[in-house]
Amino acid sequence: MSQEDRYAFLAEWYDPNAALLRRYQLLFYPKDGSVEMFDVKNQRTFLRRTKYDELRLEDLFVGNHVNVFSRQLHLIGYGDQYTASKLGSKKERTLAMIKPDAVLKMGDIIQIIYDAGLTITKAKMTKLSWKEAMDFYAEHQSKSFFNNLLQFVTSGPVVALELMGDEAVSGWRGLLGPTDSNVARSEAAASVRARFGTDGTKNAGHGSDSLASAARVNMDRANAEEFFEVYKGVVAEYTSMVAELCSGPCMALEICATEAPRTFREFCGPADPEIARHLRPNTLRALFGKNKIQNAVHCTDLPEDGILEVQYFFKILDG
Ligand code: RTP
Ligand code: MG
Repeated sequence: MSQEDRYAFLAEWYDPNAALLRRYQLLFYPKDGSVEMFDVKNQRTFLRRTKYDELRLEDLFVGNHVNVFSRQLHLIGYGDQYTASKLGSKKERTLAMIKPDAVLKMGDIIQIIYDAGLTITKAKMTKLSWKEAMDFYAEHQSKSFFNNLLQFVTSGPVVALELMGDEAVSGWRGLLGPTDSNVARSEAAASVRARFGTDGTKNAGHGSDSLASAARVNMDRANAEEFFEVYKGVVAEYTSMVAELCSGPCMALEICATEAPRTFREFCGPADPEIARHLRPNTLRALFGKNKIQNAVHCTDLPEDGILEVQYFFKILDG
């Protein structure tokens, strides 16, 4: 076939002015990274083929939200058989859990996940109750190690992650390595359990052995506008900040420390990464920020807003 590689999706966009969902066919040409959109209802071109560098092939899968020229599109279906078979076949979701003995190694483990080409689509730190742990491990209730296992997984916080990617289920189990951390150390020295696990039961992580189903959550535009409301009319970058916040998944962390807002602000560094790199080269923004808009992290400005922002993410959005 001489036709240029081209992927087709059915996409929905909520038009806030008309208060209705509009449907488009979205075409993506990987060769030059260009996009094209057709209005399905009116049968006409909505966006002529245009180069758009911010769309990445790995973000194109059904269920995901992608931003195209500041419009947040929900990909609701594959547009043709070719796209479905090429991009849809191997994508899986799985549940990963970082167990209490490895929670402080969360950063290293997330790095391992990203290096393997998997994406974290949801994350939540929580403490399992005895009952939740019993339900979660119901299949093992007759095993001799059951009580030990429950003791262990309820002994401290765990981090539950939803992972997405090609063959994510077996991929993550492969990264974990053998169940027993000591066996892992002799058979798979680079694995998560070899590096961060303790023994046969305290083994750093869990991975589902079957497909999990859940949807990816992103901040949508309305939430992002609401969250940044206080900056509206005050900060020139307001509109770009909103666009950036809903351009892909973000992770909210509740940080506990004495004077957490001030301490964490210092850890983040100056809002502009260029300035941060000069003045405070070890801060998060100096290390990971690109520019004033894409500056890696948001941190609470005023000490009295700390609790409010935590509640916004963990009570209101999650509720
Ligand atoms: P997981 O379910 O946590 O991903 O681990 P897995 O499939 O590799 O292991 P599985 O057989 O499902 O066992 C579940 C968890 O029980 C603990 N365990 N302790 N002999 C023991 O002491 C023993 N065997 C298993 C581990 O925490 C294991 O991950
Ligand atoms: Mg298992």
